[in-house]
Amino acid sequence: RPIALKDYSEPDFWIDEVHLDVDLAPETAQVRSTLAVRPNASRPGKDSLRLDGEGLELLEVHLNGEKLGPNRYQEDESGLTIMEVPAGAFTLTTVSRCNPAANTALTGLYLAGGIFCTQCEAEGFRRITYMLDRPDVMAVYRTRITAEKALAPVLLANGNCVESGVLEDGRHFAEWHDPYPKPSYLFALVAGDLGCVRDAFTTASGREVDLRIYVEPGNEDRCAYAMDALKRAMAWDEKVFGREYDLDIFMIVAVSAFNMGAMENKGLNIFNDKYILARPDTATDLDFANIEAIVAHEYFHNWTGNRITCRDWFQLCLKEGLTVFRDQEFTADMRSRAVKRIADVRMLRTHQFPEDGGPLAHPVRPDAYIEINNFYTATVYEKGAELVRMIYTLLGAEKFRKGMDLYFTRHDGRAATVEDFLEALSDGSGVDLSQFKRWYHQAGTPEVMASGKWDGAQQEYVLQLSQVCPPTPGQPHKEPLHIPIEIGLLGEDGADLPLSPIGGTAAASGAHVISLTKREQTFRFKNVTAKPVPSLLRGFTAPVKLSSNLGEREWAFLMAHDSDPFNRWEAAQKYASMILTGNIAALSNGKIPRAGTGFAGIVRKILNDPGLEPEFVAQMIVLPAEQTLAQAIGQDVDVEAIHSAREAFRASLAEQLYAEFERAYNENETPGTYSPDAEAAGKRSLRNTCLGYMAATGRADAIALAKNQFDTADNMTDSMAALGVLAHTDCPEREEALRAFHDRWKDDHLVMDKWFALQATSPLPGTLSRVRELMAHPAFSLRNPNKVRALIGSFATANQLRFHESGGEGYRFVAEQVLALDKINPQVAARLLGAFKSWRQFEPVRQAHMRETLERIVSQAELSRDVYEIATKTLG
Ligand code: ARG
Ligand code: ZN
Repeated sequence: RPIALKDYSEPDFWIDEVHLDVDLAPETAQVRSTLAVRPNASRPGKDSLRLDGEGLELLEVHLNGEKLGPNRYQEDESGLTIMEVPAGAFTLTTVSRCNPAANTALTGLYLAGGIFCTQCEAEGFRRITYMLDRPDVMAVYRTRITAEKALAPVLLANGNCVESGVLEDGRHFAEWHDPYPKPSYLFALVAGDLGCVRDAFTTASGREVDLRIYVEPGNEDRCAYAMDALKRAMAWDEKVFGREYDLDIFMIVAVSAFNMGAMENKGLNIFNDKYILARPDTATDLDFANIEAIVAHEYFHNWTGNRITCRDWFQLCLKEGLTVFRDQEFTADMRSRAVKRIADVRMLRTHQFPEDGGPLAHPVRPDAYIEINNFYTATVYEKGAELVRMIYTLLGAEKFRKGMDLYFTRHDGRAATVEDFLEALSDGSGVDLSQFKRWYHQAGTPEVMASGKWDGAQQEYVLQLSQVCPPTPGQPHKEPLHIPIEIGLLGEDGADLPLSPIGGTAAASGAHVISLTKREQTFRFKNVTAKPVPSLLRGFTAPVKLSSNLGEREWAFLMAHDSDPFNRWEAAQKYASMILTGNIAALSNGKIPRAGTGFAGIVRKILNDPGLEPEFVAQMIVLPAEQTLAQAIGQDVDVEAIHSAREAFRASLAEQLYAEFERAYNENETPGTYSPDAEAAGKRSLRNTCLGYMAATGRADAIALAKNQFDTADNMTDSMAALGVLAHTDCPEREEALRAFHDRWKDDHLVMDKWFALQATSPLPGTLSRVRELMAHPAFSLRNPNKVRALIGSFATANQLRFHESGGEGYRFVAEQVLALDKINPQVAARLLGAFKSWRQFEPVRQAHMRETLERIVSQAELSRDVYEIATKTLG
């Protein structure tokens, strides 16, 4: 059943041109496809052509214009074989039908919310028509769409519109041509009643690009930010990577039913509307930031993904890891670099580390899969981006750019591999990446142990480093990796000491980056005249777990002084985590938890430091999440103790610092017209973090403050923050506020998702029954992935306390939904099942419940490949 990288071979035939004629109606889309086929000279002598096709009703087959009898071809549930094809090039025409209205899996061609739309990555094209549906087959597409004009006034496909016109019976057509050869997964088609917002961009070489965002009519006033982000992304890619846009038109379509965030189809990106639509009163600052990042991500794919695509799906990180790295850099340039790094590492630790440390661990370039859709993971995307970032750190900005330039020239117009990428970067920069390559095929999060000693007699600082990578499924033994580690040494006053490494240990980038390449290595620094405090892994230069011989005193010192903002935040997290894990243990043993006055003292200084950006301050004072603490504990996890200890510590900090929080709350108002920019957003973030702390005391005046903010807010960020406080507190204002919010926004599907998610993440008892009730709400539907993620997904992945209730009700509920969803949309079902991936870290009673739940799922007949793979692998 599994497909393996080692079995890759080139296709027997190439397809150079695809001509599609699509006649759309809700229940039947008839597709006439003409393929220009040519035998692959390196695999000669093949006389039958096998095409992929799924769920299609085949009507006709023609070869070189001649209709074939049924004895010349064979159909089965995964495709079509044409027998006795000519030895040279030929054209093959198929006529087939599919049913967009019945397509609830949202892959292939589907009709949702009155809009026809497609999703072809990874293997959806075969649900539209017969094709060699694999990314190394690249063709030029011409697409003609015909539909009833009243049903679908707008008809879109990739590339340029070359013809359009009116037909009889109220029908019309449009024909699109994309001159760039592309794999089938980048094909897209959209048809429906859509409003359009237009703008323009002139590229560096003078190309006038027509920019269009298509949305449901009525949403045109929510597109301005996405359009602005698009133009900034286009300019940034020219400036930073030398990449220009290559067509005269670039279109984005926002749809409400979409399996993931967005899709980079050539010239016609399709988005989950959550990542396009924003108005100050409907979208939060986080929504604005996500829109900026995802619009940029999809746009950047035009070069990293589309112009250079992937040879096969094992190479997914080639486009995704690289493009995530690019969008992270874009955001860092648009906003605060320090805050962005913190956010990305937070994300990596909450999503990727658990994946890498559990039964679903896989390398950034997997070597086998059952269902490729299960491999759009945090490992491929986020760890994949970290690998590119490490290369960037090792090469330095200039050589990295040289390597990237070579990659673009060498592979433009082709389907490439990870090896191609590494070779180009290495050839372009002159830096050897042969050991580094192991990162791509070795799974698991490496653990780096650091032990530093100051040698007073020699005036030397001696840093001993070692690395181990724990075994992961199928990989019992690991080789040492090439790990770049940026370091600094702080003197008594907290300032950085000059670093003089002994021996050739400094890396090319010139910063104080050392390369750990062996299992154990010692690094020495001279002229260190007093005992320093080391700041290790600054900027998180490698996706590893670092442990050291530093204690609470050193963490406190680094939290107060480190010049590297990332490590300053890291020190705060470490310090808080030490107190909290102690308190969690104390709570379980009936001992008294610590108040953390030392920690509170530094928080006070940070809150009073006018030199720090508000968003950074907010990040500094947010305690590690419950899931992060669970991971830090690692086994026998008691979710209730974690929750109570964390809440108690929050309340204790708030009692100690109430006046400071109140002052910061008042000083960080953002009067005047709302602006989504990072600075204003940072102020709101700090202010709302302070509000959360004040409310943690349970004081009536704090609740009244939240209530007042909720009643008077003129933007969604402040409104949601206040509602969050009220909805997650057992206070009389709670139900009324939820009702008021509901009544105001019940017709806005994106805002309703926030309302669902807020209730699903409540720590209060009764949350599960509330979630069950909400499934009956008219705005909820199992068919819409955003609804599923908002209500069920947030309960399962963002509410550790309630999902893991000791009786196992949470698990059984989520499993029930997974099974129901599996019949509707296997991709979304398999995603949801990911909530069980860390099941072995919990205490025995919960583990047993989770195991039982997973076994029940596996025992079902007729599971999708998607759910089957996740369930069996999770059980191990
Ligand atoms: N390529 C898209 C992106 O990262 C995501 C596609 C996800 N596809 C899937 N089958 N899960 O921008
Ligand atoms: Zn992507």
